[in-house]
Amino acid sequence: MESLLVPLLMLSLVWATSAGSFYENFDEAWGGDLAKILNNGQVLSLSLNRASGSGVKSKSQYLYGKFDIQMKLVPGNSAGTVTTFYLSSLGSTHDEIDIEFLGNLSGQPYILHTNVYTQGKGNREQQFYLWFDPTKDFHTYSILWNPLTIIFSVDGIAVRQFKNLESRGIPFPRSQAMWLFGSLWDAEDWATRGGLVKTDWSNAPFTATYRHFAAQACVRKQPSQTCSSSSWLNQDLDISGQKQIRWAQKHYMVYNYCTDTKRFPQGLPPECSFN
Ligand SMILES: *[C@@H]1O[C@H](CO)[C@@H](O)[C@H](O)[C@H]1NC(C)=O
Repeated sequence: MESLLVPLLMLSLVWATSAGSFYENFDEAWGGDLAKILNNGQVLSLSLNRASGSGVKSKSQYLYGKFDIQMKLVPGNSAGTVTTFYLSSLGSTHDEIDIEFLGNLSGQPYILHTNVYTQGKGNREQQFYLWFDPTKDFHTYSILWNPLTIIFSVDGIAVRQFKNLESRGIPFPRSQAMWLFGSLWDAEDWATRGGLVKTDWSNAPFTATYRHFAAQACVRKQPSQTCSSSSWLNQDLDISGQKQIRWAQKHYMVYNYCTDTKRFPQGLPPECSFN
């Protein structure tokens, strides 16, 4: 009995873990050896030194999906560094859905920076502090993108929604398939306190670690596409999700473009009346 059970168990483990393999899902996009896939494909390590950052790009292009990843961010003095997990198409009218982490001096809080681009136009930043130290442990960061909505979550807690308001004339990313990217790069000219705090290269190389990649998604295979199990495809923010967003905004929000009347003297972007 025992001898039968063990191989069966091992088989299911192998199957479950290979579903999230970085080898199977990503290619090195830049940075050469600074982007490393380790532990049989289970771990991605991205590094940044003075010469270069590093990044990976998904093998597939997705048109909608629910993407989860665990990340452990650059520890210590990470000022000036930006660690990312984002979706993007290409070209001047590209769409993009961003999660970026802006590093900070030791002991100072990281900022979770989010943005949504439609047809080449972004300027929809919302920023949050986290309620934990993202350099101590792995935490799960998620993007849900379906025809109804885009939802950003941290450890399963929704922090931001960008609704599909096309019926009100507001563009929504829905026709351009996107690649998924992970990257670590230097942005000392703006990342930390608006560029006031520069990168301390004596701490280089900086390293961030990713694991437990999971995607339920529609994969573009020209000329058609195939979708994995699809309950996420019509998932919308429920009452508890709305509560979570109110909680995150109340306690952790650093910046919201929808309240920045100085930046938009002509009037706030139209979606701000609804989101
Ligand atoms: C870094 O720490 C300072 C001081 O606590 C804070 O004002 C800032 O928002 C933090 N984050 C970034 C990315 O600058």
